[in-house]
Parts: sequence; structure tokens; C-alpha cells
Amino acid sequence: MTHSDHPKSPSLLRNPVSFVGIVVAAMSTAFGLPLMFLDMVSRRTHPYLAVLIYLVLPFVATGGVGLIVFGALWERWRRRRRPELIVPPLPQIDLNQPAHQAAVVAAVTATMVIVILLSITGYRAYHFTESVKFCGLVCHQVMKPEYTAYQYSPHARVACTQCHVGPGADWFVRSKLSGLYQVYAVTTHRYPRPIETPVKSLRPAQETCEQCHWPAKFFGAQQKTFTHYLSDEANSPWQIQMLIKVGGGNPATGGASGIHWHMNIAKTIEYVAADKQREVIPWVRVTEPGGHVRVYQSTEVPLSPAQVTAATPRQMDCVDCHNRPSHIYTPPDRALDAALEQGRIDSSLPYVKREAVRLLAGTYRSEAQAMAAIRTGLTRFYETTYPDMWRQRQADIQRAAEETAKVFARTIFPEMKADWRVHPNHIGHRNTDGCFRCHDGQHASADGHVITKDCNACHTILAQGAPATLQGQPLREQPFQHPVDMGMDVTEQKCSLCHNGTTGL
Ligand code: HEC
Ligand code: HEC
Ligand code: HEC
Ligand code: HEC
Ligand code: HEC
Ligand code: HEC
Repeated sequence: MTHSDHPKSPSLLRNPVSFVGIVVAAMSTAFGLPLMFLDMVSRRTHPYLAVLIYLVLPFVATGGVGLIVFGALWERWRRRRRPELIVPPLPQIDLNQPAHQAAVVAAVTATMVIVILLSITGYRAYHFTESVKFCGLVCHQVMKPEYTAYQYSPHARVACTQCHVGPGADWFVRSKLSGLYQVYAVTTHRYPRPIETPVKSLRPAQETCEQCHWPAKFFGAQQKTFTHYLSDEANSPWQIQMLIKVGGGNPATGGASGIHWHMNIAKTIEYVAADKQREVIPWVRVTEPGGHVRVYQSTEVPLSPAQVTAATPRQMDCVDCHNRPSHIYTPPDRALDAALEQGRIDSSLPYVKREAVRLLAGTYRSEAQAMAAIRTGLTRFYETTYPDMWRQRQADIQRAAEETAKVFARTIFPEMKADWRVHPNHIGHRNTDGCFRCHDGQHASADGHVITKDCNACHTILAQGAPATLQGQPLREQPFQHPVDMGMDVTEQKCSLCHNGTTGL
């Protein structure tokens, strides 16, 4: 009996499941293809559209094909069990018959088209899920703080994945797996506010930061000028110029010194933190290149030997100092200093720093509420306290209010509860403990060494005072002078005892 002798049997595809599959696959393809070509020729990718084209529709179409196949198999199984129904045999292909030749060519072409389409969508999906737009915009509400702060940072042109995933297949797979959970968490609103740091699964800095920043690069000293404005009526400016001894170096070429040298290259430093945020560090172990080991313990927050053995020490890397290379939530006082220095806010408006900082530090439920409160709050202050000035300088006051509202939108995110308080910056020590988590003069070893709090160990002050008095003065090394007399030696304290981003209120 040859194939053509068979009585004509209805196709296995004639079943409701396969029918639904055909409809689903055809509709999603018919819908997706034109969108895909539109997206490829347009210059801007819209993140939600891209999710639809490269992730949702291919998934639905593949599901449709799956339904077709499943329906056919199920139909075959059903007909087998009912003798009155005819099960069509698998087709026999005879390439001598022109009809079969045409069918084979058609089938191969169709398969190739599908494979090409799948590769294009797969490739685009890969690139899209690696893009800044995907990370920063798709989960718009959730990633808004990180994405906004990132855009104003020195790393605004570095893709999220270059720090959060890095090169290599295993981290790629890990990131996609945790990404699946994150999508679930976002759709079901099961995510913490703020998103927690430290990022427990952050890849070691050697494999991310060091891909771009050569650790032994010698930076020498960096001269920085800090311009501040006090909270007095005149918003008195105060400037500090200092050399920060960043250093670094390669022992083979010499010139090794400075912060990067001591902390990154010459020594291995491990520590145990008392809290999840790594703000309190009671135990530090240093291993010198020769193998000599020294353990420092805080005299203020001692850990018991049992607590130390129970803990897994973390090896210090770039991110323990540079924890905010990209998501910098500037504290209100620093943000205002910058706005005043750049003339975005007129520093001749009395008490403008104090009032703006006070408004920025307020408690708000939403960004919209905060921006409205800031605009009316600042204008009302001048209207009631300086009515004459309010009449003459409305434009300046309005501009100051607008700028303060913008500062809020760039740095404080009430919906996600993200701001300078929950994401302190560990570079420096004025508004947060930062370096003073260890360099507080209270971490001592059994043989009497203390982690230094010497004000000249990390930097030297070259000039300080009101900018007008500094003009024309030669730069010279000098001890720190606190801009306001606190009736005590503030260098004996941690600066963060009083400085918290809103000092002077
Ligand atoms: C220059 C490197 C770098 C880039 C680029 C970068 N991040 Fe981060 N990110 C970090 C570091 C470092 C941390 C904090 C790590 C820690 O303290 O454990 C972090 C933390 C986070 C956190 C946790 C919450 C927080 O604010 O600490 C989120 C969420 C995040 N990043 C998302 C993103 C997104 C989205 C992008 C792209 C728009 C991005 N990151 C780009 C380095 C980077
Ligand atoms: C893809 C490359 C890349 C990666 C990865 C990267 N950076 Fe950068 N980094 C840059 C570029 C580019 C700049 C800007 C240089 C400039 O402005 O001159 C920069 C600047 C910096 C600066 C100087 C900031 C300033 O205020 O001028 C620091 C500090 C820094 N990066 C630390 C880090 C840390 C920490 C990581 C890892 C979490 C990291 N970077 C990852 C490329 C990278
Ligand atoms: C002990 C803390 C500490 C560690 C660890 C550390 N840095 Fe730094 N780094 C600093 C300080 C402090 C500065 C000075 C910049 C400042 O004050 O803003 C700096 C400056 C830099 C700069 C800018 C230099 C310049 O002159 O423009 C880069 C880039 C940088 N660090 C990258 C890294 C990388 C990459 C790592 C890890 C291999 C790292 N740092 C580890 C404290 C540290
Ligand atoms: C986890 C604790 C820890 C933190 C945080 C930390 N350091 Fe250190 N630092 C140490 C230890 C430990 C030593 C080495 C002490 C020794 O040699 O025994 C050291 C040494 C140094 C030295 C060399 C000091 C000398 O006497 O010559 C410099 C400079 C330095 N650190 C800068 C910084 C800066 C800048 C920061 C903040 C951005 C910082 N460190 C944050 C633990 C820390
Ligand atoms: C372990 C290193 C280290 C030690 C010790 C240290 N500093 Fe600093 N200090 C820094 C770093 C790093 C910065 C830069 C922060 C930045 O770039 O924003 C800084 C910044 C400053 C600034 C400028 C801050 C601002 O916002 O204007 C002052 C003032 C200052 N330090 C004073 C002191 C005094 C006083 C002491 C001694 C009690 C001291 N420092 C000890 C690392 C150190
Ligand atoms: C006992 C509390 C106290 C301590 C400790 C303290 N400060 Fe201050 N500091 C103040 C007050 C109050 C002001 C005035 C704030 C204002 O007018 O806005 C001020 C102002 C400043 C200013 C001028 C800029 C500004 O924010 O107004 C600098 C810079 C400064 N302090 C640096 C430091 C440093 C560095 C340390 C640590 C070595 C330190 N302070 C420790 C209370 C303190």
C-alpha cells in the first residue's frame, strides 16, 4: 500500500488546542513583525515597546507554536484510542515527485525564516536587556533614584551592566536569573523601599571597576577646592583648598604612595562590620606583603572573640570607599553649596541656604508634594520675613525656589525612600563616618598601634577661609581651622557628630 492509497484523513491539526495555538502564533507574529521593523529603523527605542517586541511577543508566539504541536500530539493519542477514527501516518517524502520537492523547499525556507527571526529577536532582546534604558527605565518607579543619580554622576556614560554584571558568561546567567526574580518582585510590589545596599551580590571590584581603572595607576595628589556657605544671614562663603594624597603606584616602577597605595596595593585589609550597612566597623585585619598580620579592634564598639569567629571578614576593595561612584545622593547642604557657588541660586538672598536646606530636609510623601511645598515655603519666607525685598526681588526669589525644587527632584526620592540618609557616601568623613569608620583614632592593635586619625595622613590643607581673604595669598600647609567656634577642639570628635547633611538648622 502506498501513501496515496490511504483514505483521506482529517489533519491532526483539526483540534481546538492547535487551533488556539495557530491563532495565537499568527496574531503575535502579525502584530510583532511590523513593530520590529519600525523599531529597527527608528533611532530611539522606547523601553516598554522594546519589552513587548523582543520579550513578550516572541514568548507568546513560541507558546502558540507549542500549543500547535501539543494539540497535534494530543489529537493523535486521542484518535489512537478510538478505532473508528483514522490516524494519519507520518508523511513519506519522495523527492522525485515535483509536489514533494516544492513542499520540502517551502518547509526549509519557512524554517530558515523562523530561525532568522528568532535570532534577530534574541539578539535584540539580549542587547536591550543589557541596556541602560532597560535597567533604568522599564521599572521606572523602582529604579528612579538610582537612574536619576546616575545621570548626574561621572559614570553617566558607563552602562549599568558594566558595574553590576561585568564580563563573562556565568555572571551574565546569574544576572538574568536574579533579573527574573526582580521582574516578579516588581510586578507583585514585593521590593524593599529603599532598594537595599550594600548590594550583597555585587561582583568583586577587580572584575568590574578594574576593567576600566587600572588599580596601580599613580594619580599623585589631587587638589580639591571645597566651597561652603554658612547658614547665617549673609550665607557667608568659606573655602578649603586641599591636596588629597590619592597616590597609587606600581612597585616595579617606583613612586608608590598615598591612599590607593596603602589601602589597595601594599596591604590586604579585611574587616567585620557590626551592621548590615557596614557603617560600624569594630574589627580590622591587615596583612602586609611579607605575611605579617595585625588585628585592630575598636575600643568603642568591642566585638567578643565569639562574634569575631562567627563572622566572615570582607576584603576591602574599591567599593568600600567608592560606594557611591554612580548613585550619588548629594546631601542638602552640599547640593545647596553647589547651587550657590554656580550662581543658580543668588547668594545675596538672606538666609537662603538655611531656608532651602530646611525645606529639602522636610518630610514628604511624594515628589510632587515636596516640590510644591518647597516653592511656596521659600517664597512665603521672604514674603513674611523680608516684605520689602520680596516686592523688589520676586524674580530672584522665584528662581531660588524653582532651583531648590529641582535639587530635590535630582537627589531625594520620597516614593522609594532613597536619599543621602539611607545611602551615605563613604569618601571622606564630614557628613558621614566614611574613612572615620576605621580612622577614628579608636581602633587599636594588641601591640599598641592605632589606625591613624592624623589630619595630614590623607590630605594637607593649603588654604582656608573666606574666599575674599584667600585671594593672592600663597598656598601653604596649615592645620585645620573650623569655620565656626564650637568652644571645643572639633578634631577630637568625629565630624559626623554634628554634620549630617543639614548642619546649621
Ligand atoms: C560606576 C559603576 C556603576 C554604574 C555605572 C551603575 N551602578 Fe548601580 N551601584 C554601583 C555601586 C558601587 C553600588 C553600591 C554597592 C554597595 O554599596 O554595595 C550600586 C548600587 C545600586 C543599587 C542599590 C541601591 C543603591 O542606590 O545603592 C541599584 C538598584 C543600582 N545600583 C542600579 C543601577 C542602575 C539601574 C544603573 C544604570 C542606570 C546602575 N546601577 C549603574 C555601581 C554602579
Ligand atoms: C566602563 C568603564 C568604567 C567602569 C566599569 C568604572 N568606571 Fe569609574 N570612571 C570611568 C570613566 C569614563 C570616568 C570619568 C573619567 C573622567 O571624567 O575623566 C570614571 C571616573 C571615576 C572616578 C572619578 C570620579 C570623579 O569624581 O571624577 C572614580 C572615583 C571612579 N570612576 C570609580 C569607579 C568605581 C569604584 C567603579 C566600580 C564600581 C568604576 N569606577 C567603574 C569608567 C569606568
Ligand atoms: C581607602 C579608600 C579607597 C579605596 C579602597 C579606593 N579608593 Fe579610589 N580614591 C579614594 C579617595 C579618597 C580618592 C580622592 C577623590 C576624592 O576625594 O573624591 C580616590 C580617587 C579615585 C579616582 C580619581 C582619581 C583622580 O585623581 O581623578 C579613581 C579613578 C579611583 N579612586 C578609583 C579607584 C579604584 C578603581 C579602586 C579599587 C581598585 C579604588 N579607587 C580604591 C579612596 C579610595
Ligand atoms: C575598614 C577600615 C578602613 C577604612 C574604612 C578606611 N581605612 Fe585607611 N587604613 C585602614 C588600615 C587597617 C590601615 C593600615 C594601618 C596599618 O598600616 O597597620 C589604613 C591605612 C591608611 C593609610 C596609610 C596611613 C599611614 O599611616 O600611612 C591611608 C592614607 C588611608 N588608610 C586612607 C584612607 C581613606 C582616605 C579612607 C576613606 C576613604 C580610608 N582609609 C578608609 C583601615 C581603613
Ligand atoms: C583616613 C584619611 C583621612 C583622615 C585621617 C582625615 N581626613 Fe579629612 N578627608 C579625607 C578625604 C578622603 C576627604 C575628601 C572627601 C571628598 O572628596 O569629598 C577629606 C575631606 C576633608 C575636609 C573637606 C571636607 C569638606 O566638605 O569641606 C576637611 C575640612 C577635612 N577633611 C578635615 C580633616 C581633619 C580636621 C582631620 C583630622 C581630624 C582629617 N580631615 C582627617 C580623608 C581623611
Ligand atoms: C560640635 C559640632 C561640630 C563638630 C564636631 C564639627 N562641626 Fe563643622 N560645623 C558645625 C556647625 C554648627 C557649623 C556651622 C554650620 C552652618 O553655619 O551651616 C559647622 C560648619 C562647618 C563647615 C562649613 C560648611 C558648613 O557646612 O557650614 C565645615 C567645612 C566644617 N564645619 C568642617 C568640619 C569638619 C571637617 C569637622 C570634623 C573634623 C567638623 N566640622 C566637626 C559643627 C561641628
